Amino acid sequence: MSRLDPHSYFDTEQPRARHLRLDWLVDFEAHRIAGTATLELEAPGSGPLDLDSKDLEIESVVDQRGNAVPFELGEPDDILGRRLRLVLPDGTTAVTIRYRTSSVAIALQWFAPEQTAGKRHPFMYSQCQAIHARTIVPVQDTPRVRVSYSAAVTVPEALSVVMSAGPAGERAGAQSGMRTFLFEMPQPIPPYLLAIAAGDLASRDLSPRSRVWAEPETVESAAYEFAEVEQMITTAESIFGPYDWDRFDMLVLPPAFPYGGMENPRMTFLTPTVIAGDRSLVDVVAHELAHSWTGNLVTNADAEHFWLNEGFTTWAERRIFEAMHGSDEVVLSWAMGQRALEESVERFGAGSPLTKLRQNLAGVDPDESFSSVPYEKGARFVTAIEQAVGRPRFDEFMRAYMKHFLFQSITSEEFIAFLDTQIPGLSEKVDAKAWLYETGLPANAPVFRSAKLDELSALAKGWQEGKRPTAEQMKSWHTAELLVYLQQLPRQLDAQSLAWLDERLSLTARGNYEILVEWLTIAAASDYEPVFDRVREVLLTVGRMKYLRPLYKALGAHPRTQKLAREIYEAGKHAYHSLSRHVIESEMEKY
Ligand code: BES
Ligand code: ZN
Repeated sequence: MSRLDPHSYFDTEQPRARHLRLDWLVDFEAHRIAGTATLELEAPGSGPLDLDSKDLEIESVVDQRGNAVPFELGEPDDILGRRLRLVLPDGTTAVTIRYRTSSVAIALQWFAPEQTAGKRHPFMYSQCQAIHARTIVPVQDTPRVRVSYSAAVTVPEALSVVMSAGPAGERAGAQSGMRTFLFEMPQPIPPYLLAIAAGDLASRDLSPRSRVWAEPETVESAAYEFAEVEQMITTAESIFGPYDWDRFDMLVLPPAFPYGGMENPRMTFLTPTVIAGDRSLVDVVAHELAHSWTGNLVTNADAEHFWLNEGFTTWAERRIFEAMHGSDEVVLSWAMGQRALEESVERFGAGSPLTKLRQNLAGVDPDESFSSVPYEKGARFVTAIEQAVGRPRFDEFMRAYMKHFLFQSITSEEFIAFLDTQIPGLSEKVDAKAWLYETGLPANAPVFRSAKLDELSALAKGWQEGKRPTAEQMKSWHTAELLVYLQQLPRQLDAQSLAWLDERLSLTARGNYEILVEWLTIAAASDYEPVFDRVREVLLTVGRMKYLRPLYKALGAHPRTQKLAREIYEAGKHAYHSLSRHVIESEMEKY
């Protein structure tokens, strides 16, 4: 037996799945998906085949000849779920598992009609990263086993379905009033990139290879916000090489989506909070697009190497941003990343192993180790390498890296070994060992500065000494400048200061969630009553963990706001994704 991924029962000595065929019926009443999953094997196999499953009800398993395949579910583990062991007869080329998901499958969130923008139809979507695919399909749920897939998904006929795949037609469903949507994903993907959403969906074309999907009520504003996506794709292609996934479509989800975005191939999932009305938050799209290269073509072998996905992608996102908006602008993105990194390090504690890039996660839930460390420390590591060798040579290296590991899932050590073959001596020069295996930021971490950043930092840091921005300064700030300023202000201010800020910058009235939440976090931590209603409103609307965590944390600073937090949570918890609930509860435990 040989298990490499601490979060999977995948055994390297057993047969591997190569293609997945899904036939699903989405049951909006029961909050379940029911149907079959057929795993086609890489080569005819026999003997034990261990799959991952969590909260799945397995009904039957047959081989390609229709003969029953014995199976057994292991003891449930809180993190891993249950091992589903099949015992394959000689010459098995495929197994078909008939099953249904549980109504509490972590990967799925279900919305009643009244919880949607349109209020008329139900909605559902999946979020499988890192190890939740096993709650919707029994597979070897590790990025080491890539599968292509095809799917037939049946839903009530008023609804549409999208998946992380190419559309392959539609037909009337077997039952009346139902419709079946077909999909093909010909490229092999790690199971965490399997994705589905179904609801009342409309779409708008943005370019010949990109369109945005959303509820009809949201689709126009989404089309405006993401209108420049083609320019983003061509910019990315000029740096990383051709976009290889055919289409780059996007789906805007309900506000309860716990992330900013998810790089589901051919169908990026997005929070509606990026729709600011002025295209100021589209860096999330650049990030998910960049995953088309870093993450989806070259993938982390498992969650212990998550920085390979997110560090490279954060670096790539900023390269796209820099090419589109210039090097002064991107310095502000790095500054915001720096704040996020500091907050994560503070949350874990400076010496915590969770501040290492290369992690050891046996017995640790990947959702618990999630933080800005792999993103921001990772991106700084990549930049340190880039700066040490120079951009032209590094870009060449990146292209070679992506070509070499195309459609593979790799470890940190494999990355370093490849770097050593391509640019001998470099990993030592940048002290890759310190970056990967030590806590905190190495001394040679790149520093990002600009005159603008210095000015904003000096202004914000001088608050207590009475420094204030002038009316002209404040008027001139665009989103990122205002954000950097707010982020560097003291975390608590007196009522007079808060009133001063709100009067001049109309912060409580903002619709831009980045600005609004940054402001409300300071105001909430300062027990500033005038914002309480707005805090409640935000927390009862939005499920994005990036916003919930700081707000609920800030509310912990005073007895009165703690009470407010508890009251809001009681009112809102049913609408939150279970991941969001978990994050909030862990913040409230610290009260
Ligand atoms: N792949 C991540 C989201 C994710 C990570 C989901 C781990 C589940 C487990 C996605 O690419 C991401 O990083 N999203 C960020 C966007 C931001 C960095 C621009 C987010 O959600 O905030
Ligand atoms: Zn990402």
